[in-house]
Amino acid sequence: MRTIEGLAGNGDEWTVLQQAFHENHALQCGFCTPGFLMALQPLLLEHEKDFTEDDIREVISGNLCRCTGYEPIVKAVLQTLAQLREKDASETGDSESIGAQS
Ligand code: FES
Repeated sequence: MRTIEGLAGNGDEWTVLQQAFHENHALQCGFCTPGFLMALQPLLLEHEKDFTEDDIREVISGNLCRCTGYEPIVKAVLQTLAQLREKDASETGDSESIGAQS
């Protein structure tokens, strides 16, 4: 079983999603944030797919927080998906996907 503590690959380094939560002010309390981060892991594994905001909202629909809107969380996930796709493209040398001019 994987827990929030097991997300970071190298000790205390944040994952791309955790960094995006930070940058988009998507962090909530210590009860719901781990739930959001863990619920989103399967979606991130399929980051090559073209997920919509509705898809993301569906994935996090099982995590209820009465304290916030979900907009920053959705923005953080969209940012993470874009970053993961860009990383894939740079590793495979797909210059069109990373926006390079030929
Ligand atoms: Fe975590 Fe609302 S901020 S439940």
